[in-house]
Amino acid sequence: MPLELRDTEVTFGGGLFGRSHTAALAGVSLALATDRAETLAIVGESGSGKTTLTRLLLGLLRPTAGRVLWQGQDVHSLRGAAFAAYRRAVQAVFQDPFGAYNPVYRVDRMLLLPARRFGLTSSDDEARALAARALEAVGLRPAETLGRYPHQLSGGQRQRLMVARAMMLKPRVIVADEPVSMVDASLRGTILGALHRLRQEGGVSLVYVTHDLTTAWQLADRVMVMRGGRVVEEGDVEHVIGSPRHPYTRALLDAVPPSMPDPGWLEREDAA
Ligand SMILES: Nc1ncnc2c1ncn2[C@@H]1O[C@H](COP(=O)(O)OP(=O)(O)O)[C@@H](O)[C@H]1O
Ligand SMILES: [Mg+2]
Repeated sequence: MPLELRDTEVTFGGGLFGRSHTAALAGVSLALATDRAETLAIVGESGSGKTTLTRLLLGLLRPTAGRVLWQGQDVHSLRGAAFAAYRRAVQAVFQDPFGAYNPVYRVDRMLLLPARRFGLTSSDDEARALAARALEAVGLRPAETLGRYPHQLSGGQRQRLMVARAMMLKPRVIVADEPVSMVDASLRGTILGALHRLRQEGGVSLVYVTHDLTTAWQLADRVMVMRGGRVVEEGDVEHVIGSPRHPYTRALLDAVPPSMPDPGWLEREDAA
């Protein structure tokens, strides 16, 4: 059973006389499979509604109209154990990792607390080992990272920490909003490779929000192109990026022509 948006609409604001509404999303539907792993890329220019869409999927925002469903149930009607199960199953990697952390917690607590809360491990040693593996998978050194506070890390390190945390919780779905936007180009492959491996080996489905059509091509099975809060084109990655129908998609491709699909990092990671 999938994670779904059904005809969702999000309108912000209202203004004094209700005149200045911003329609951030209009008539957006999608279904992400969870019985098998799939990767859906959401692409579109800044302001097209991508982050708003991810907040709907994560249950952080109520749609003005339409529904958000997890395994057939409206996420805003989930209570108790059912809500906790959804919260664990669908993990976030936020676009802005600065606001996502509690500044008074050190990194080890951020990783070990959820490991314990979600019952991933029975001992502290096991939890530490799990955290260390997740950090290494995104190119962070556990010894240098675990004892630090969030403000002692760079933006790129914080972003990688979010990916490590999401991976460690063994979710069914990861919703990643521009997960490598602050990461050095040299490390992007490591992180995207780790996410890809999670999909291949761990059966985790991925919503990958990006404006980088090259990595969308390399990582995704399906692509959804957003503009002004609407979906302008969607389908298999080969069709949408390989032979786009909509002028807007073509314009995006012209602005940043993707390199040929030569996912060296995917093959390396697969072979490892
Ligand atoms: N909390 C908010 N309050 C008012 N307007 C918002 C809010 N969040 C987003 N918007 C507006 O909704 C639109 C879509 O934003 P967003 O989903 O962040 O797009 P993207 O992630 O594609 O850049 C933009 O016009 C943005 O200004
Ligand atoms: Mg955004």
